[in-house]
Amino acid sequence: MAEVVIVDAPETAGALVADEIVRRARQNPETVLGLATGSTPLPVYRALSARRAEVDLSRLRGFALDEYVGLDPAHPESYRSVIEREVVVPLGLDAGRIRVPDGHPARIRDAGEAYEGAIRDAGGVDLQILGIGTDGHIGFNEPGSSFASLTRVKTLTAQTRRDNARFFAVGEEVPRHCITQGLGTILRAGHLVLLAFGEAKAAAVAAAVEGPLTAWVPASAIQLHPRATVIVDEAAARDLRGATYYREAWAHKPDWQGI
Ligand code: PGA
Repeated sequence: MAEVVIVDAPETAGALVADEIVRRARQNPETVLGLATGSTPLPVYRALSARRAEVDLSRLRGFALDEYVGLDPAHPESYRSVIEREVVVPLGLDAGRIRVPDGHPARIRDAGEAYEGAIRDAGGVDLQILGIGTDGHIGFNEPGSSFASLTRVKTLTAQTRRDNARFFAVGEEVPRHCITQGLGTILRAGHLVLLAFGEAKAAAVAAAVEGPLTAWVPASAIQLHPRATVIVDEAAARDLRGATYYREAWAHKPDWQGI
C-alpha cells in the first residue's frame, strides 16, 4: 500500500516534497516532474522556490497532468497559465521544458497521443505530484476511468465543475471537457506523491488508500503502484483506519530514507 504521512500543516508537506525534489535535482538536474495544478500542490512549489539558491532547478523537465479543452491558453485559469504563474516563473524553470496537454479543439483528436509520446521521449516521469478531487479523481480522471487509460479527453463531473467554479469569475462557465493524463499514464511514473489537505478530502483519501480498488474511486489506482506516498494533514486524515500505524511507521522511519 501507499506510505501515508500525516503532517500538522500543508507547509510541512510542501517542505517534505521539496526536499525530495531537491535531492533528485542534485542527482539528476534533468529530473522529470509530473505537475499537478489546483490549490493543493502550491505549498510544494512555494517551498521549492524558497530553495532556489541551493540547487539549480532550471534544467528540470515537467509534464502537467491536465488541461481544460477549449479554454484560451491565455486565460488566467488555463493550466498552461497556472503552471507558468505558479511553477515556471517562481522556480526559474526553462518554460520550453515544461509541457501542458494541448486543449485546442482543432488539435484535440491527436493531442493525447502526442502527449504520451512526449512523456515517453523524456524517459518517463520520475516524480508525479498529485492532488485528489472530492470525488476521488486524480488528474481529471473522473469516477469510472479505466486503470489502463492514457492521456485523453474526459467530461468533467458536475461535482468537479462546482469545486472548480471558485477559480472562475462569476457567470463564467467552467469548461465541461478536459484532456488528462490517464490512470495508466500516472501509474508509469517512478514515484507518486499524493497530497490532500482539509476535511473535504477526508472521505476521498480514505477510499483511495484503504478502500477497494475500483474505477469508481480513480485515486485507488495508487494502490497498484510500488512507490506511492500520500501526505495529508490531520483533517484529511480524519477517516483513515490505519492512522495510528501510519504515525508510528513515520516516527520510526530512518531520516536518510526521506519520503
Ligand atoms: P484542489 O484540486 O487541489 O484545488 O483541491 C484537487 C484536484 O481536483 O485534483
